[in-house]
Amino acid sequence: MNPKPYANTRPLGCEIAMPELENINSARYWDRRFASGDWQAKGGPSQTARFAKSQVPKLQLSKTFDGTLVDFGCGTGDAFPIYRNAYPNARLVGIDFSSEAIRLCRAKYHGLGEFIRGDSASVPDCNVVIVSNVLEHLTNDTIVVDELLKRCQRLFIVVPYEERELCEEHVRTYDYRAFSDFPVKRREIFASKGWSEFGLANVFGIQLGNLIRGAAGLPPRRRRLQIMFEIRGMLSPGLPA
Ligand SMILES: C[S@@+](CC[C@H](N)C(=O)[O-])C[C@H]1O[C@@H](n2cnc3c(N)ncnc32)[C@H](O)[C@@H]1O
Repeated sequence: MNPKPYANTRPLGCEIAMPELENINSARYWDRRFASGDWQAKGGPSQTARFAKSQVPKLQLSKTFDGTLVDFGCGTGDAFPIYRNAYPNARLVGIDFSSEAIRLCRAKYHGLGEFIRGDSASVPDCNVVIVSNVLEHLTNDTIVVDELLKRCQRLFIVVPYEERELCEEHVRTYDYRAFSDFPVKRREIFASKGWSEFGLANVFGIQLGNLIRGAAGLPPRRRRLQIMFEIRGMLSPGLPA
């Protein structure tokens, strides 16, 4: 993809302190990131919670939803209080291939859901899978999507939208046409808490800042956004929804 002349800064929490770790697609990488406290020190847990607050209204599930919702790549489980509050009757399942992530999920949120150490093959048949801010870290993203679609009715993918200067851990960027080989039902580009600039950061950093940058002949800085894809899963609607 050709980078456009946007001058984005790095998103919060993306400067990692472990450059010696090479394979960011490995469970070992994530185990060490969680066990070292780097994820926590960079605000990972609160970022996950803010992501979930922005995403839940977009799922279009009712408060009475009593099916199964799987959070794939759930990290330290910090979306679960938000899911539980939104869907008191749902079965909530968190899956992550990092054993350290799952240990922390169980320690913090054991009453809120089930937590399973595993990859896409461990996802139980379910109504909904959410994959929040995971796929941009993966070299095999479409293989994972294929696997997830076999196991659910609806798949929600949320990733950074047209990220220009890739955050250190990210290996790919997505635009509106991404996943067009799959049966995408809905796409939504949105400002997300935990990623996008809001309030003064938006007014001064982006809007007024761009007036000044424009006057100085500098390229504009674009507000960071995310995109959600809803993709039709292969499970027929026999499951409770
Ligand atoms: C950047 S964190 C995202 C955490 C959370 N979903 C959020 O929205 O903040 C990525 C998570 O995906 C997990 N992960 C990455 N690849 C995975 C795979 N193939 N199977 C299961 N989990 C994976 C990592 O262990 C990590 O916890």
